[in-house]
Amino acid sequence: MTNEELMEKAKEVSKNAYVQYSNFPVGACILTENGKVYAGCNFENSSYGLTICAERNAVGSAIADGEKVFKAIAIFSPKMHNCFPCGACRQVLSEFQAQEGLDIILEGENGLNIFKLNDIFPEGFKL
Ligand code: THU
Repeated sequence: MTNEELMEKAKEVSKNAYVQYSNFPVGACILTENGKVYAGCNFENSSYGLTICAERNAVGSAIADGEKVFKAIAIFSPKMHNCFPCGACRQVLSEFQAQEGLDIILEGENGLNIFKLNDIFPEGFKL
């Protein structure tokens, strides 16, 4: 699965986002160390704080399927270039990253940009 293919799936799933309140759709697609792929979109609620981000929705699907070592995640919003994960999602993703770290794949103005989670989220909380 290439970075481009992961991004395509993130784009596709962003179309299913339930964004009644923010009108800001996001899609995310995770690649696990076993080569499996899980997608998620954000979904909001009239009780605003209950909103679930696309990234954490994708994480939940992976965990439910028994996958917990992630190599890469592509994140896409049609409303923003380089749609970085929020702080809460960075913390959640940091729990499940592969030995070599987690690639964060974003779509910029001129194609894909790749960051390491540890570079954009140093010193996360760990027990
Ligand atoms: N959102 C995500 O899905 N992922 C992020 O990393 C940033 C924010 C969603 C939450 C909410 O539904 C909308 O984007 C606007 O904040």
